[in-house]
Amino acid sequence: MKVLVAYFSAGGATAQIAARLTKSIGADVFEIKPAQRYSKDDLDWQNPKSRSSMEMNDKTSRPAIAEKKEDMSEYDVIFLGFPIWWYREPSIIDTFIESYDFSGKIIVPFATSGGSELNDTSRNLQALAKGAVVTTGKRFDSSAGEDELADWAKEWI
Ligand SMILES: Cc1cc2nc3c(=O)[nH]c(=O)nc-3n(C[C@H](O)[C@H](O)[C@H](O)COP(=O)(O)O)c2cc1C
Repeated sequence: MKVLVAYFSAGGATAQIAARLTKSIGADVFEIKPAQRYSKDDLDWQNPKSRSSMEMNDKTSRPAIAEKKEDMSEYDVIFLGFPIWWYREPSIIDTFIESYDFSGKIIVPFATSGGSELNDTSRNLQALAKGAVVTTGKRFDSSAGEDELADWAKEWI
């Protein structure tokens, strides 16, 4: 079985979790890099006109990703990490999901946040990845360690 950890991180918290998860389960890793990176101003959730606010207010927004992973079809399980933005997955995660055929694969979401859980996130992702199985997923504190992550991940690998 081939396992991939794919993640998007604007501030580094999710990247830390992704790195520990990757190490603890011995998976491959792919960073979902925005074609245009998010500046501090872009991430200002208090400004309704900031890039992140505009994207998250528009369910059809699909921010471009810098590069595509060509061998995605080889993977059976994809752990998909991101920060919670406005109680759900950032729009660039929707871009990612729609960029590949995940039929027959298992997608396991994980997230960091200021406290919010995943709420409707996995249902959103399931609607976009029709032939895949998207699990409920889990939020982690950015301090979550390798043992905790491996323990959680072993259900799918
Ligand atoms: C635009 C934006 C919206 C956010 N919305 C939420 C939210 O709804 N709930 C929450 O708990 N945290 C929210 N946060 C905080 C992030 O989820 C949190 O800081 C996360 O760990 C950042 O991950 P990163 O460093 O990998 O980008 C938001 C952050 C940003 C930039």
